[in-house]
Amino acid sequence: MRIAVLKERAPGETRVAATPETVKKIIALGHAVVVETGAGLASSAPDDLYKVAGAEIAGAADAIKGADLVFKVRRPTTDELAAMKPGAGLAAILEPYGDKALVEGYAKAKVDALAMEFVPRITRAQSMDALSSQSNLAGYRAVIEAAELYGRAFPMMMTAAGTVAPAKVFIMGAGVAGLQAIATARRLGGVVSATDVRPAAKEQVASLGAKFIAVEDEEFKAAETAAGYAKPMSAEYQAKQAALVAEHILKQDVVITTALIPGRPAPVLVTEAMARSMRPGSVIVDLAVAQGGNCPLSKADELVEIGGVKIMGFSNLPARLPADSSALYAKNLLALLPLLTDKESKAYAPAWDDEIVKGAMLTKGGAVVHPSFAPASAA
Ligand code: NAI
Repeated sequence: MRIAVLKERAPGETRVAATPETVKKIIALGHAVVVETGAGLASSAPDDLYKVAGAEIAGAADAIKGADLVFKVRRPTTDELAAMKPGAGLAAILEPYGDKALVEGYAKAKVDALAMEFVPRITRAQSMDALSSQSNLAGYRAVIEAAELYGRAFPMMMTAAGTVAPAKVFIMGAGVAGLQAIATARRLGGVVSATDVRPAAKEQVASLGAKFIAVEDEEFKAAETAAGYAKPMSAEYQAKQAALVAEHILKQDVVITTALIPGRPAPVLVTEAMARSMRPGSVIVDLAVAQGGNCPLSKADELVEIGGVKIMGFSNLPARLPADSSALYAKNLLALLPLLTDKESKAYAPAWDDEIVKGAMLTKGGAVVHPSFAPASAA
């Protein structure tokens, strides 16, 4: 099949869906790859490197035209979608929640749209898990950004001129991003604590050398879904959690929030009063800002200052390490490719009965097929 790798057009997006390394591997699997001119520039992969890897370089229209499968990081623009061949496949982080018309648009264009973030989190699909590959880097980068904004040092330093106290860092939400943030903050020398509502997180936090802070009641013990995600907590639990967090936060220098509940607005964990209780120079980095934020004061990609406390909401942290985030995302797509390929002919042929394809495909042959978006009768 012919696979097109398009340049990202979303504002601030620096990633690319294939690297010269994955292009070489895709070609070795028996496919042809066309990369849009300049697609890898922002992630340190100029056109020449793709050419050496065996790709054809073309303008957007020529790249899309005739492609059996389109790889992207973010959802396609209306023009890109309109230019796609009916019956072609599309794999990207499509963010379909909150925009059902968009999913219907893929069906109307007769494009099989696969949302990378819907790849089920089963062992076999770990190498295809774009949520994990990107969250991990986001967690790392959040700490680097926090250290940059913080006017003090992270590690304790005992010098002839006096002692520099270590930064107290509190990570809220200990999923993939949060656990990497804990590890990174510890490496920088911070004194780290973390919270989560899932009991499984307790041991993981402790194993990274951080202190676990949470209201551990009966509701906490049942807070994890079968898929490993957090459930929305009751108002009563949230009030108890807020009281515990309020007491802890006022002693912290850096707070990094990563708490999410799939398909829902992010829970509010750091109130304005909590932010104001921190000493001047403290930093809050909100990774959930694109889902509404864990702190109501945070604004996407803007630095807000309140009482000397800096609050920064990053809507796309992986885009701030484009070479690594592209490399991992490109490998996620490479790992998925066999599920979209006929073994013998190497033609585009999704394995419709495979649970990974079923879990992630939104549309098929002009119809919306994903149970979360399909019309009630078809669901
Ligand atoms: P996520 O991005 O959906 O949420 C981040 C974290 O926020 C989660 O740990 C969640 O429990 C926490 N959270 C939600 N509400 C909260 C609240 N009110 N207060 C504090 N924390 C709150 O989660 P992510 O990073 O996608 O991971 C979810 C789970 O999936 C984890 O257990 C992770 O280990 C697991 N996982 C499993 C994989 C596999 O088996 N292949 C791959 C990746 C993750």
